[in-house]
Amino acid sequence: MERDVFHIMETMRPMRRISSEDVPQELIDRVLTAGGWAPSGLRTQPYRFIVVRDVQTREKFGASYGVAIKKAFAKILPDEDDTSSDARNLRRAIAFGEEIQNVPVLLFVCGKRDWPFGVKDDERVGLAPPSYGSVYPCIQNILLACRALGLGASLTSIHQVFEEECVELLEIPETFGIVAVIPIGYPIGKFGPVGRRPASEHTFFERWEGAETEQAQKP
Ligand SMILES: Cc1cc2nc3c(=O)[nH]c(=O)nc-3n(C[C@H](O)[C@H](O)[C@H](O)COP(=O)(O)O)c2cc1C
Repeated sequence: MERDVFHIMETMRPMRRISSEDVPQELIDRVLTAGGWAPSGLRTQPYRFIVVRDVQTREKFGASYGVAIKKAFAKILPDEDDTSSDARNLRRAIAFGEEIQNVPVLLFVCGKRDWPFGVKDDERVGLAPPSYGSVYPCIQNILLACRALGLGASLTSIHQVFEEECVELLEIPETFGIVAVIPIGYPIGKFGPVGRRPASEHTFFERWEGAETEQAQKP
């Protein structure tokens, strides 16, 4: 099952067609171990994982997820006759909102809250954001490990619009924020390949090239 890392990366599209068949904990353990191999600032590993299999918890989360994703994408809904890859992806992402509760494992990745170095003491208001920079490498390792083991997974973040509900549901302390929720299960859909612009289109040598406005047009 385990393949060359370049092949894994090149075929790691988000898997949004996932079977409800259970996934053994040993596989999830391997995935979480791989997550921990990622670098983090000062090797602090400022994250915690919550592995959710409970049906009621998944249903509650799924109901809110479905509403949130529909609302978020309502403004950019493609025309019904649009069969482009972007349109199909968007429709699948919305449809997955109805199915996410059936995915056997919902992995909540929480990050310890900490102010970034750039925010001065007197500018700190409210709760600090989770240490995204030290959590995302771990998340990417988790996604890569899932792909390498033949598990379907995808990165989701729309929980941000109903995070308080999740915090209450999972009893997460104020010192942590939820960075991502990763549904994991056996894939029904096919993996990759990813479609991306070539690196040459966003790479400069020695110094920034071109007017800022010109570059700003590229997302
Ligand atoms: C920070 C971040 C947040 C994301 N949040 C969501 C999400 O809430 N729901 C979802 O279905 N996909 C989410 N995605 C997945 C992206 O939509 C997906 O990675 C991107 O469209 C590339 O897909 P592709 O490989 O099929 O081209 C997120 C990705 C990132 C990096």
